[in-house]
Amino acid sequence: MEGRVRRIGILTGGGDCAGLNAVIRAVVKSAIGKYGLEVWGIENGFRGLVKREIRPLTPSDVSGILPRGGTILGTTNRDDPFHFPLLEEGRLIYKDMSDVAVENFRKYKLDVLIVVGGDGSLKIALDFWRKKNMPVIGIPKTIDNDLDATDVTFGFDTAVLTATEALDKLHTTAESHHRVMILEVMGRYAGWIALVAGIAGGADIILIPEIPFDLEKVCEKIEQRKREGKRFSLVMVAEGAREKGKDLVIQKVVEGSPDPIRLGGIGKYIADRIEKMIELETRVTVLGHLQRGGSPTPMDRLLATRFGVKAVELAVEGRFGEMVCIRGGEISSVPIEMAVGRLKLVPPDCELINVARAIGISFGD
Ligand code: F6P
Repeated sequence: MEGRVRRIGILTGGGDCAGLNAVIRAVVKSAIGKYGLEVWGIENGFRGLVKREIRPLTPSDVSGILPRGGTILGTTNRDDPFHFPLLEEGRLIYKDMSDVAVENFRKYKLDVLIVVGGDGSLKIALDFWRKKNMPVIGIPKTIDNDLDATDVTFGFDTAVLTATEALDKLHTTAESHHRVMILEVMGRYAGWIALVAGIAGGADIILIPEIPFDLEKVCEKIEQRKREGKRFSLVMVAEGAREKGKDLVIQKVVEGSPDPIRLGGIGKYIADRIEKMIELETRVTVLGHLQRGGSPTPMDRLLATRFGVKAVELAVEGRFGEMVCIRGGEISSVPIEMAVGRLKLVPPDCELINVARAIGISFGD
């Protein structure tokens, strides 16, 4: 197969995260430098493929972007070409524009499309490969670290650093004011960010979606600390955590979005209840999109670079329909279908949970 691919297209889709620019840079540098190929960037995710927002990427386009957060190509978590939003006579309608995307792919003489995305964008990539025979290669990214078939995704380490630093800062103010400080972090339906940053930042209580919590147990832990002379507590809560027997706390439902449920608000929910149950002031910090922005950590830069180089190698070898991944420290690849459609959640009996319990962290269960 070597030599058949001459022009690579690359797009970034879904929510951004740190390391996207590092991956674009690695693809451009290795495709051009090592194999003498061309790389074209598609702007704003799959939307750019429908709307022909496509431009060549040269080494000078990627110069200096390694430490930069975000993505120079732009991104969106809407605009699925198979269900594309269009305004017709002032009305929002959805149309299948996938054939237009395929036409543009051909018009621009692309031989393969590298899709850097999470579950949603990789599912779209898989549809293009299976239904439209358009050659694709996937690169997984997400701060949530919830993609199956890879041990880790880039963006996660940077998000964990941001959450850990936030917890460190909350620690000193919690201690000074004798307060309960709650830090709400992202992660969607997986508790990876809360768990890892919670342990690293010394949380006393970690609440994650995989272990529904009981508020009585949460308060017991805070009271126990008070009895031990610690008149403050740090609670790390994942946005998808929920109380036993209760529904998820959501910010709102966004009509027409491929991801209609916007999580958020669980921090305030538990703060309001804790304050009624114990005599300690309680405050909430919602970390939000700070977790997605900023400069990638060295780990994320390295992982993104390794993924980018591997994706180009797969393209050159004609290994379409595959996604790069890391398993046991080794970079390899799997069919995209192995990574999408099911989430990698925190196993409630995994080593990290046991480590946390061993040092006295409560999960409110
Ligand atoms: O999937 C990444 C993520 O940051 C989640 O952790 C969070 O729930 C969601 O995206 C937020 O998405 P948006 O930026 O569209 O509100």
